[in-house]
Amino acid sequence: MNPMIKVEGLTKRYAGVTALQDVTFTVGRGEIVGFLGPNGAGKSTTMRILTGFLPATSGRVEVAGWDVFQHSLEVRRHVGYMPENNPLYDDMRVLEYLRFRARLKGVPRAQRKERIDECMERTGIQDVRRRVIGQLSKGYRQRVGLADALLGDPDLLILDEPTIGLDPVQIRQVRQLIKDLGQRHTILLSTHILPEVEMTCNRVLIIHRGKILASDTPDNLMKRLQSGGAIHVEVGAAPEAAMETLRKAAGVAEVQLESHRDGYARLTVWPRGDADPRVEIYRAVSGARWDLRELTRARTTLEDVFVQVTREEDEAEEDRRDQRLRLR
Ligand SMILES: Nc1ncnc2c1ncn2[C@@H]1O[C@H](COP(=O)(O)OP(=O)(O)OP(=O)(O)O)[C@@H](O)[C@H]1O
Ligand SMILES: [Mg+2]
Repeated sequence: MNPMIKVEGLTKRYAGVTALQDVTFTVGRGEIVGFLGPNGAGKSTTMRILTGFLPATSGRVEVAGWDVFQHSLEVRRHVGYMPENNPLYDDMRVLEYLRFRARLKGVPRAQRKERIDECMERTGIQDVRRRVIGQLSKGYRQRVGLADALLGDPDLLILDEPTIGLDPVQIRQVRQLIKDLGQRHTILLSTHILPEVEMTCNRVLIIHRGKILASDTPDNLMKRLQSGGAIHVEVGAAPEAAMETLRKAAGVAEVQLESHRDGYARLTVWPRGDADPRVEIYRAVSGARWDLRELTRARTTLEDVFVQVTREEDEAEEDRRDQRLRLR
């Protein structure tokens, strides 16, 4: 079966600005993919193109097997889109708004009431259906936006920064809601906050300055960086003896003394290559009959991955610029 989203060589230029540069990626059916990138990376631009609201400069885009540029109506039928800033009609009541949207989306009259009820049920907004949208809390506005996106029973949900501006409790609720929706829909969501993709997505696409820099599971991305990460050890021994012993452990490249207090030496151990010498360290310490008070590997967050991946790209860009200057 063809993937839910297939993007090939997509480029978008606004007057003077290249927002997307030769972007290629796919999203399989049933995936929850996080589109992660800093401000101006090109997330919203990609989403607008995917939903048929913005023409591309060049490239191919297919959604649910339909070419977005030739069949934008079919595409919109298969996609539930929550745009950036979730624009809603503030003077309308929730139910009134959803009825209006269902009509616009061509939900047949006979099915409208049932569809609207179901969407309100799934997003937990039954209790506020008679309230005026402008008076709702941000979290509830966001749910109304999600209910709207669900109205056409779409195969694919495209959500542009669905948790922006919410308080921590609302964020947790909306994330849970997205996870639940992911059981029945393919989801592409954008964010510039990392915990978001860590908690909700099966896969992350990192985008920076209009280019895809990485595509992997959140776990794998972190593993990629974790190899080579420092290990903290606290051992009840004289610093010199501890350092000498740990340096001999298999997989250890270097040992550095951080501090020495109440008979404990605190050390940072750097592994060789992508070795994980924690077991060897434990064996060396217990072989010497020392007490071990701590043995931890610094946890890499997606934040670290993001900083590293974008730094590599920035450095490559600088190199290319230097190269061009030298050629002149
Ligand atoms: N209508 C427009 N006209 C000109 N340039 C635009 C337009 N819309 C976006 N851009 C530019 O295209 C680039 C990508 O913008 P886009 O809104 O897609 O980024 P984003 O990743 O969604 O950022 P954010 O996290 O701030 O929402 C930016 O440099 C932006 O200034
Ligand atoms: Mg955006």
